This record gives sequence, structure tokens and C-alpha cells, in this order.
Amino acid sequence: MTRKHPTALWGGIVLAATIAAFAPATGLAAEKKAMAPKAAPLETEKSAALDPWKRYANWPQADWNKFNTIRNNSSPSVGRYQRVYGPIEDGNAEKGKKLVADRTRGGGCFACHVMPGVTLAGNVGPDLSTVGTWGRTDWYLFNYIYDPRVFNPGSMMPPWGAHGLYTPDEIRDIVAYLKTLKAPTAFKDLGDDPNKRVKGASAYDPDDPFQNPAWGEGERGEKLFQKPGPTGKSCASCHANPKKAFKTWAARMPYYEPRMKKVINSEEFITRHARAATGDEYLMESNENNALSIYLRVLGRDQPIQVKFRTAEEKAHANRGKELMGRKIGQLNFACNDCHGLAADKWIRGQYLGPSKDQVGHHPYYRTSQGAIWTIRKRMEWCGVAIRANELPPDAPEYADLEYYLTSLSNGKKVNTPSMGH
Ligand code: HEC
Ligand code: HEC
Ligand code: HEC
Repeated sequence: MTRKHPTALWGGIVLAATIAAFAPATGLAAEKKAMAPKAAPLETEKSAALDPWKRYANWPQADWNKFNTIRNNSSPSVGRYQRVYGPIEDGNAEKGKKLVADRTRGGGCFACHVMPGVTLAGNVGPDLSTVGTWGRTDWYLFNYIYDPRVFNPGSMMPPWGAHGLYTPDEIRDIVAYLKTLKAPTAFKDLGDDPNKRVKGASAYDPDDPFQNPAWGEGERGEKLFQKPGPTGKSCASCHANPKKAFKTWAARMPYYEPRMKKVINSEEFITRHARAATGDEYLMESNENNALSIYLRVLGRDQPIQVKFRTAEEKAHANRGKELMGRKIGQLNFACNDCHGLAADKWIRGQYLGPSKDQVGHHPYYRTSQGAIWTIRKRMEWCGVAIRANELPPDAPEYADLEYYLTSLSNGKKVNTPSMGH
């Protein structure tokens, strides 16, 4: 906004007051219109991501289309108890011992349970070291493993049998093994014990550009901001003082865009606004988009996040995001909330599960384990693929609503793009 000369400003107010005195309704409406911020030009028709979407080349390529995604219902419905005749005599405990540790089966049992011989156990489920002394029947153990939902509809344990991760015969072997467990587990290394493990103190300083490559990407973004696009204009042609103009922008993202009837986040805004304003094609998850996002969000660093829901549409989208947090997806049948709510502050194998709060303000960030910048959408896609659920394209409205709701949980916390993490 250009600063008006004081006299001009006073003149304006006097004029407005005069008009208001004679024709109050029209006067106020006209003044409101003049003050309403100009909407940013956006391209609203095309996909903001690679279309058709293709999963990242270095990710598992399996297709889990037989199971729910955050959009589609495909998983088999919850079954009934399985018949188990008499005590399980034919189970092979030796085989069962290997099967519980088999990480290729959706992480195996150690991901959530302590059992003898475990390394890096999780503690989402109860310690099963003495399950053999609990007086559980074979029928109960078999069915709990085959599909725990027959006992506990909201169970966080995957339906190992019903979703085809272990065959019924393998589950019989596992039951035979569990029955042999009668003594507390002695850990060789304290780090293997989820109740003693120290939550990872970060070994690096994300604010140090020499340690965190994301800062360099931000600089790349600044250069892109100056570079003229196919329309002949650069971002800087229209935004001469981005530092001032965009100070609170990151803290207000994502927002509900009435022209699209959809929530859009920083990265989707960049794609659509660039198409309309500079003619550049910066698809979501491209290096250019990530660089610009980091640059713009760094300009909003330390501003308190303020994503508020005022209109009916805004509230409806936020509510849908909240609902989607509870939706069970993938062959492993997890909901976002299972890991980010119910099990928060616990360990799933060596992964510490953070609470739903404080998960948003630092994106995009640099992941040392990937050697790459990750956006919040890529993280959501990965949280699906990791539990064997097909991901959606990064501009999917479902992710947008999830991000909208999740961001509001961090209202008041500061934007701190770009952080760094494992
Ligand atoms: C993602 C975490 C997770 C994984 C992985 C997991 N469980 Fe569980 N398990 C749980 C939770 C949580 C419970 C507690 C009850 C509930 O929520 O249904 C449980 C309960 C159980 C029980 C019932 C204990 C009782 O009180 O009688 C058995 C048996 C069991 N799990 C066996 C297994 C076996 C065998 C595997 C590997 C094939 C496994 N679990 C893998 C989370 C998990
Ligand atoms: C042709 C002029 C023009 C160009 C070129 C342009 N913008 Fe904009 N931009 C606007 C207008 C108009 C608005 C809406 C009014 C405002 O917020 O300044 C806007 C809004 C924005 C906003 C939102 C500000 C807010 O507070 O809501 C951001 C961020 C932004 N532009 C970034 C960029 C980037 C990045 C580029 C380059 C890819 C760019 N702009 C290129 C005209 C332009
Ligand atoms: C099996 C457990 C699991 C499920 C299910 C899961 N996540 Fe995650 N998620 C993780 C782990 C582990 C991390 C990385 C550690 C952390 O920050 O909590 C993570 C990180 C995230 C982050 C980034 C947090 C940060 O601080 O950088 C977001 C956002 C997120 N998940 C959203 C989701 C959404 C949305 C869903 C549902 C579609 C989901 N997750 C489902 C385990 C899970």
C-alpha cells in the first residue's frame, strides 16, 4: 500500500463522512470496496502438480489399490471371528519367532511391542514379553492377530490376517511362539528399550546455513523472484518490497480460495500465481517451487501462525481436515491420528511420534536422511506410502484440508521455515 499524504488522508475521511451522512449505505459499501485488497491473480483450472501424477522414482512403487486411500474406500470390510479349533498344537514356535521379527511384513511386531531378542522396540502396544503367562486362549490370540478390530474396533494394530500380511498358518506359528514368552525382556542396549530411549536431540543447528542446505535453496528462490518469466515480468516487477509485503503471508497459509472452492497452501499458491503473473510453470514439488516457497516463507519467519476459520466454507473445510485425521488407510490400516494423536509421545520402532501440534511451521525443510527438501505435502504422501496406502497428488484437496486443520493447531506458534530433520 502506498502511504498517502496526511492531508489527502484527512480529505478522504471528511469526504467519506460527508457521503455517509447523505447516503449511508452506498457510501460505506463504496469505501469497503475501495479498501478490499486486490485478489492475487491465479490460474485456477489446471492441476498444480504433475498430471497424471506419478510417484517419486526413489519410493516403493507397489500399488496398494486394494486398500483405502485418504480419498477412496477400497479396504475389505471388517470380518467376524475366525474359527480356531482346539488349542493350536501344530504351530511352529521357531518359525513364529522369526515371523514376529520380519520387518518386510509391514514392520513386524517389534515396531510396537517389546518381545525377547528385540532391537529398537517400539511401545505403541503393550510389552508382550510375558504374554504366555496371561492366560489368553489360542482362539483369542489368533483372532487378535488376524484382525484386532473384532475385539477393539479402533485398534491401532494392523489386521495382519485380514489384510494379507501374514497367512493363517503363519499366525498359528506366531501364536505358538507367543505362548512360550514368560519372562521380562533383558535389553542388551538401553537404546533398544523404548521406555529408556532418549528422544533424539538434534545433532545439527537448522539455523546455520553451513549445516542446513535449505538456506541455499532459499537464496535460489530469491534469484527466481528477480528473474523475468515468459510474460516479461518477474515477481519483483509487481512486488518491489517483498520483505514488507509478505511479512505475514506464510503465517496465514493455507487459506480458503473462494475462486477455487478449495484450500490452497504456499506451494500451490506459487504454482497458480506464477502461471497467471509471470507465466512460469513451477509445478508443486519441483525444485523451483520449493526454492520460492522457502524464500517467501523465510520472509515470514517468526510471525505467529494465524489460520482462523470464520466463514461457513472455511469451517467446513477445517472440519473435513479434522475428520480425515481419523480415517483408516492403507494395508496397515492406520489413521493419521493413530500415530499423531493416540500414540503421540511413543515410539514406533526407532521413530519417535510427535504430537499433531508444531508439525507445520517449519516446512519446507531439509531431510538429512533423504538429502532433499521436503514439503509438508510430500511428508503427507510419505506418511501414506509408509503404511502402504497409495498417495494422492500433492495438490489434492484432501491434503489441503488436512494441512488447513493441522496448521490451525499451531496458531500462535512461529513460522520457522526452513528447519532440518532426519
Ligand atoms: C502399530 C503398532 C502395532 C504393531 C506393529 C503390532 N501391534 Fe499388537 N497391539 C498393538 C496395540 C496398540 C495393542 C493393544 C490393544 C489394541 O489397541 O488393540 C496390541 C495388542 C496385541 C495383542 C493383545 C495383547 C493382550 O492384551 O492380550 C497381541 C497378542 C498382539 N498385539 C500381538 C501382535 C503381534 C503378533 C504383532 C506382529 C504380527 C503385533 N502385535 C504388531 C499395536 C501393535
Ligand atoms: C503482474 C503483477 C504480479 C506479478 C508479476 C506477481 N505478482 Fe504476486 N501478487 C500480485 C497481486 C496483484 C497480488 C494481490 C495483492 C497483493 O497482495 O499484493 C499478489 C499477491 C502475492 C502474494 C500474496 C500476498 C498476500 O499478502 O496475500 C504473494 C506471496 C505473491 N504475490 C508472490 C509472488 C511471486 C512469488 C511472484 C513471482 C512468481 C509474483 N507474486 C508475481 C501481482 C503480481
Ligand atoms: C504409522 C505412523 C504414522 C501415520 C499413520 C501418519 N504419520 Fe505422519 N509422521 C509419522 C512419523 C514417524 C513422522 C516423523 C516424526 C514426527 O515428526 O512426528 C511423521 C511426520 C508427519 C508430519 C511432519 C511433522 C514434522 O514435525 O515435520 C506431518 C505434517 C504428518 N506426519 C502428517 C500426517 C498425516 C496428515 C497423516 C495421515 C494422512 C499421517 N501423518 C499419518 C508417522 C505417521
